[in-house]
Amino acid sequence: MFWTDRSRQEITCFSYDDEHALHLDDRSLRWYYPPQFPQDMDLSRGFDTFIKHEDEAVDEHLDSLLAAVAAHEQTTGSKIEAQVVTWRGLMTKIMATPYDDRDGFEMNATFYQGCIFVEEDHASKVASRREQESRQNRPPPQQHPNRPWFPPDLMSYWGYKFESLATLPRPWGEVSRDEIEGRDDNIVSNKAQYCSVVRTGMGSTSLCLGGEVDAVWDAKPQHPSGKQAIHWVELKTSADIQSERDLEFFEKKLLKFWIQSFLLGVPTIVVGFRSRQGRLVRLEEIATEGIPGTVRQRAQQAQKSPPWDGDTCINFASAFLSWLRETMAGCDGVWRIRRQASSPEIEVFQVEETGHGNILPDTFLNWRIK
Ligand code: A3P
Ligand code: MG
Ligand code: MG
Repeated sequence: MFWTDRSRQEITCFSYDDEHALHLDDRSLRWYYPPQFPQDMDLSRGFDTFIKHEDEAVDEHLDSLLAAVAAHEQTTGSKIEAQVVTWRGLMTKIMATPYDDRDGFEMNATFYQGCIFVEEDHASKVASRREQESRQNRPPPQQHPNRPWFPPDLMSYWGYKFESLATLPRPWGEVSRDEIEGRDDNIVSNKAQYCSVVRTGMGSTSLCLGGEVDAVWDAKPQHPSGKQAIHWVELKTSADIQSERDLEFFEKKLLKFWIQSFLLGVPTIVVGFRSRQGRLVRLEEIATEGIPGTVRQRAQQAQKSPPWDGDTCINFASAFLSWLRETMAGCDGVWRIRRQASSPEIEVFQVEETGHGNILPDTFLNWRIK
């Protein structure tokens, strides 16, 4: 386990329940408790009963994050201090831009009361998923005997199955042995989520980010303060490392693991390594803070250039955010933030000259007018 003291402070939180209904509380928080290993566990088990949240049917905008922010502002009687409000996932994409040479993105942004609100463009997200599916849903013509092909839906299920094997719905002392040992039989669903709303900074820009947190290691403090890091745990699955090539591939993946956890102040990542056949073979606890240094050192030892550099990501995102603030300052309307796949640049241009599009719901606007 790895704890760090950092300037990322949870200001509030919210949960989606088993029906994906929103609640402004921590009811869907989960506790990390490693899976028991009588033998390697099959991560495909239960795929036929997987309850999957269909996030394409409805454009959720920033609604739940803004509901949590508005409730927090009502309780404290003051506006949050943030120049940019967005989902952690979108900041991850921006921060990864210097090294992500494949995926593009489209976001919508609007300026309101001194703050820029950034959402993902729903139609573009759905279109790019369709395109990705058409590339990935067919097995390759020739398959390596030790590297069988599995459909992307099943591989994505492995991640949720691992979460279900590695967490408990209540602290360890409050669950029965049967509940702990019976986790492999639980029906897996990704509808419930706990989301942390965090105040943080990037260069000269103050940020409010909302993002899902997989579990807590021990207990969430009743009244978290800026000085007290919450011992969050991010769970990830990855193919077991058996060769130098596998290690290089894993180190590339570590970029997104690191950014995602860094942004919310998650100190520990637990990786469930799996076989090529999707069986869980071992766990590894990784300190988020040490990842950029480890990747750099390994490259130095191998006399290679490092695959990525964390400071470059931070500097890029800091410069982009301050430029975005200058560009949009005081302007009404809706802006598009776009990166085309394989392009090194992020374009920003105005798409509507007035209003806030659908980025800010009336409930949020009405609350802020008061
Ligand atoms: P893994 O990361 O172990 O593959 P998160 O890690 O962010 O908590 O997400 C939980 C799981 O959701 C992932 O587990 C993966 O199974 C699935 N998932 C997340 N993003 C995905 C994406 N872009 N495509 C497919 N599956 C995804
Ligand atoms: Mg998660
Ligand atoms: Mg995870």
